Amino acid sequence: MCGIVGYVGGQGALDVVMAGLERLEYRGYDSAGVAVLADGGLAVAKRAGKLANLREELARQPLPDGRTGLGHTRWATHGAPTDGNAHPHLDNAGRVAVVHNGIIENFAELRTELAGRGHDLGSETDTEVVGHLLAEQFSSCGDLAEAMRQVCVRLDGAFTLVAVHADDPDVVVGARRNAPLVVGVGQGENFLASDVSAFIAHTREAVELGQDQVVELRREGITVTGFDGGPAEIRPYHIDWDVSAAEKGGYDYFMLKEIAEQPRAVADTLLGRIDATGRLTLDEVRIPDPVLREVQKIVIVACGTAFHAGMIAKYAIEHWTRVPCEVELASEFRYRDPILDRRTLVIAVSQSGETMDTLMALRHAREQGAKVLAVCNTNGSTIPRESDAVLYTRAGPEVAVASTKAFLTQLVACYLVALWFGQARGTQWGDEVTAVVRELADISAKVEQVLATMEPVRELARSLSDRGTVLFLGRHVGYPVALEGALKLKELAYMHAEGFAAGELKHGPIALVEAGVPVVVVVPSPRGRSVLHDKMVSNIQEIRARGARTIVIAEDGDEAVVPYADHVVRIPQTPVLLQPLVATVPLQVFACELATARGNDVDQPRNLAKSVTVE
Ligand code: F6R
Repeated sequence: MCGIVGYVGGQGALDVVMAGLERLEYRGYDSAGVAVLADGGLAVAKRAGKLANLREELARQPLPDGRTGLGHTRWATHGAPTDGNAHPHLDNAGRVAVVHNGIIENFAELRTELAGRGHDLGSETDTEVVGHLLAEQFSSCGDLAEAMRQVCVRLDGAFTLVAVHADDPDVVVGARRNAPLVVGVGQGENFLASDVSAFIAHTREAVELGQDQVVELRREGITVTGFDGGPAEIRPYHIDWDVSAAEKGGYDYFMLKEIAEQPRAVADTLLGRIDATGRLTLDEVRIPDPVLREVQKIVIVACGTAFHAGMIAKYAIEHWTRVPCEVELASEFRYRDPILDRRTLVIAVSQSGETMDTLMALRHAREQGAKVLAVCNTNGSTIPRESDAVLYTRAGPEVAVASTKAFLTQLVACYLVALWFGQARGTQWGDEVTAVVRELADISAKVEQVLATMEPVRELARSLSDRGTVLFLGRHVGYPVALEGALKLKELAYMHAEGFAAGELKHGPIALVEAGVPVVVVVPSPRGRSVLHDKMVSNIQEIRARGARTIVIAEDGDEAVVPYADHVVRIPQTPVLLQPLVATVPLQVFACELATARGNDVDQPRNLAKSVTVE
């Protein structure tokens, strides 16, 4: 939610900042802007719309060459996505430029105060007050980092701020509270960004900024302090992926690349976590066995696609470990006063590790004494940092706004957590669980197999691109898969798509079924709990009888569905609880292709942003 880049060094700042913004555009694409310190002054360009508009503007009116600069790509919160509301925001003298990610909750009060002192604030944003406050503070102390510290303590809310001042041309200053900011440490140059992909082409050495910290960047080094001015402990780390992971690699869209990367992402997430005897070895998850043995309830909190992963995890956890498990939308969690104590294990699932709703839910859980385990894809992000323990998914950077490979790896990680939890508590496994553990070793090959047979799904998607509605049905773990299929289609194709538990259909939603409506049905395996399968076959007949066009996702060898299916999409035979790992893939491909056929940008769907750092 908003991407930020700052640079000081020997290269042309504008090029470095623009290239960084390109990698961060997934975080917001309502408007973009840059500022460069050059010739004793501040040169600024900003434009509503995608970064391409800013590029055109810069081609028409180039900025002077400078070695210090910053940039921003925006997901609008306060004020429409106009040129005027685009960042950076300046003070009245045009000497300070500031960019911001987050929300400054007390901006109205600060605005009135500034207006009372004669400042003229022209935009509708919450950010602009910061430029003016920084200018005032700098004029009294002459030190941008000190000015930033003094301003930050006056701000309420969540913010990452990056600023430059024309009177201090070799310095970039950043501040962080509840929103991400990472320092890239180079040779004779340093970077600031919302995410490491912005500077990965220049350096793989990074420093994670902690909560309520200010960093001063100069060519020769960085200084980190707390908002109180005291020295802060820094956490340097090496980024273990390279620039190719942050590029499209020949695909038209990041989403296509990320769908194709799923077999590898799944295999990487499993790597070294189950030993040859089938024992789970999650040593990195530092929750001692005695604590796990005391747990009486598990609560999973997450949003969107990660919430669907949590819904599936609930089936696995309860079935394998017999410990009650609830799943809750993180945005609802703390407001209903949930019952939590030290015997509750909360699992916070998040790709970005920055989702504000999930962060607030985990903070609430910890305040009530619960232990929190994060399942996260982003090393060093806020959610794992604030949790008691973390299990990282190893999907690599996910750039497309719609989550694909992160979802599959979240599922794998949740299965691992469930098995490990059962192991720590001494749960007696039956043959079923032993088979699941064995099966996980082959699951990446099965995902690969699904991907290799997707052409008919793409063709079908193209043929349905003019439809108004697609419905999705599932039972058991197929129900969250149906919800995920519908979410992907909504967010990418901007069409009415809804997922239902198939058993609920007769309680209302079946009224939506009319002649020709495409209904995607995720059919449970006929092996294992065959009653689920048989009920689903009846549901397919019910909707077919009402004219639905049935698109049936069924296991290899499941012939019972054939008479009632207009289209059958085959997936490999898989244990019931693991089926989402193979059944979700055709739905991702379907949504991506259908949206592309409608002319939509699948990497940057309208109104969305990748990392939702506001509540
Ligand atoms: C949908 C999607 C979102 C995210 C949700 C949570 O395709 O990507 O629904 O899953 O915003 O994000 P994280 O996992 O970063 O907490």
